[in-house]
Amino acid sequence: MRCQVAIIGAGPAGLTLATMLAKQGIDAVVLEARPQEYVRARVRAGVIENTTVDILTELGVAARLHQEALVHNGFNLRFDRTTHRLDFHQFSGRHAYVYGQAEIVADLIDARIAAGLPLIFDAEVTGISEISSAATEITYVHNGQTTTLQADFVAGCDGFHGISRTLLPESVRTFERVYPFAWLGILARTTPVTEEGMYCAHPDGLSVHSMRGANITWQYLQVPADTEVADWPDERIWAELRHRSASDDHPELETGEIFDRSLAPLRSVVTERMQHGPMFLLGDAAHIVPPTGAKGLNLAVSDACVLSNALGRYYASGDRAGLDSYTDTALPRIWQAQNFSWTLTSVLHRFTDDPFDWELRLARLQRWAESSNEQAALGEVYLGLPFPTPWHP
Ligand code: FAD
Ligand code: PHB
Ligand code: PHB
Repeated sequence: MRCQVAIIGAGPAGLTLATMLAKQGIDAVVLEARPQEYVRARVRAGVIENTTVDILTELGVAARLHQEALVHNGFNLRFDRTTHRLDFHQFSGRHAYVYGQAEIVADLIDARIAAGLPLIFDAEVTGISEISSAATEITYVHNGQTTTLQADFVAGCDGFHGISRTLLPESVRTFERVYPFAWLGILARTTPVTEEGMYCAHPDGLSVHSMRGANITWQYLQVPADTEVADWPDERIWAELRHRSASDDHPELETGEIFDRSLAPLRSVVTERMQHGPMFLLGDAAHIVPPTGAKGLNLAVSDACVLSNALGRYYASGDRAGLDSYTDTALPRIWQAQNFSWTLTSVLHRFTDDPFDWELRLARLQRWAESSNEQAALGEVYLGLPFPTPWHP
C-alpha cells in the first residue's frame, strides 16, 4: 500500500491533520494502535480554546460541539477562602468551550468513516525507515500480521509514549521539567460548585473543580508524585477536595458517586526539533505541558494546522519551504503555551513548606484577582493565541 502521508496515531493531532489533508485532496492513511472503542472512550482534556473551536468549525466537524459544549467566559480563582471570577470574555469577545476530548475524537472519527477515508485501528506501528529519498516504509502489526505501508511523509501523532519521538537522532535536545507532584482526577455525579471552572490555591495544595455538564464534575487534587490511586479511597478524596476548596462565599462542595479516576504525572517537555527527514512530530509526541491551563489538546491542533499548510504548499507547487521551516514556525506558540502552563502551575501548586513561597504566590494571585490588565493578558493566552499560520485549504 502507498499513500502521500502516513499518520501514526488517531488522537487529536492525527485526526485533525487527516481532516485538514483531506480538505486539500492529499491522501493520508491513519494507523492507530488501539481499538476504536478504546480511543472513543478515552476521557482526557475538556477545556478547548476559542481558536481551536474556530478551526474545528471551519473544518465542518463542530456541529455537535456547538450543540453540546458549555461556553465559558473564564474561570474562578479561590484563595484565602474567597472566590474571584476572572472574566476573559469581556476583553476579547472570545470564549473557552468545555467539551470532552473523547467527543472531539469521536466527531473526527465519524466524519472520516462517513467520507470513506482510510483509518485503521488495532494497527501498532513498530518501525519507520527511509527506503529511498522518495519513500519511507512504515511497518505495523494489524490483526497479528506484520504489514507495510509506503509514504512520502510520516506524521508522528502518537503521543508521548509513541514510537516517533524515539526515532529522532540523539543530537536533538529535549527540554524537560518534571514536577514533584501529580494530579489525581475524578469524574463524579455531582453539581458543580461554581458555574465555570475553578482553581483553588491552598497552603496544602491545589484543587481544581471543572465539569462535563450540569450534573457531572471533573475535579483534581495535587498529590505527591509517588502516590497511588489505592491510597485515595473516596472519603479521603472528598475530604481533601472540601478542605482545599473551603470558602466563606459559597456552600460546601457537594459529594457524590465517583465513576472514574486517574493519576497523571506533571511534566513540561519540548523537543528542540520536531522533524527529521520525512518525519514530522505533532502534539504530545513533540511536547507536553502540565495540565494547569489546559493547553495540550489545543497545541496538537495548532501543530496540525502548520503541517497541513506546509504539505498543501508542497503538493500544490513542489515548494518545500513550509516543510523545512515546520519546527521554527510551530515552536514559538508552543513556548508561549509552555510559559503559560508553567506560570499557572508555579503559582497554583505547593512546591515547598516555606511560608515565604506561599506569601509570594498569594501576592501574585492578588494581582490576578484585582488587575484587569493582568486578566486581559492571561485571557489572551487562555482563550487561544492565533495559530502560527492561519488555516487555508
Ligand atoms: P494522544 O491523544 O496521546 O494520541 C496519540 C495516539 O497515538 C493514541 O491514540 C495512541 O494510542 C496512538 N499510538 C501510540 N503509539 C502508537 C503506535 N506505535 N502506532 C500507532 N498508534 C500509536 N489538554 C487540553 O488542551 N485541555 C485539557 O483540559 C486537558 N486535560 C487533560 C487531562 C488529562 C488527565 C490528560 C491526561 C491530558 C489532558 N490534556 C488536556 C492533554 C491532552 O489530552 C493531550 O495533549 C492530547 O491528547 C494530545 O493529543 P495527541 O493527538 O498529540 O496525542
Ligand atoms: C493538559 O491539560 O494540557 C495536560 C494534562 C495532562 C498531561 C498533559 C497535558 O499529562
Ligand atoms: C478539564 O476540565 O479537563 C480541565 C480543566 C482545567 C485544567 C485541565 C483540565 O487545567
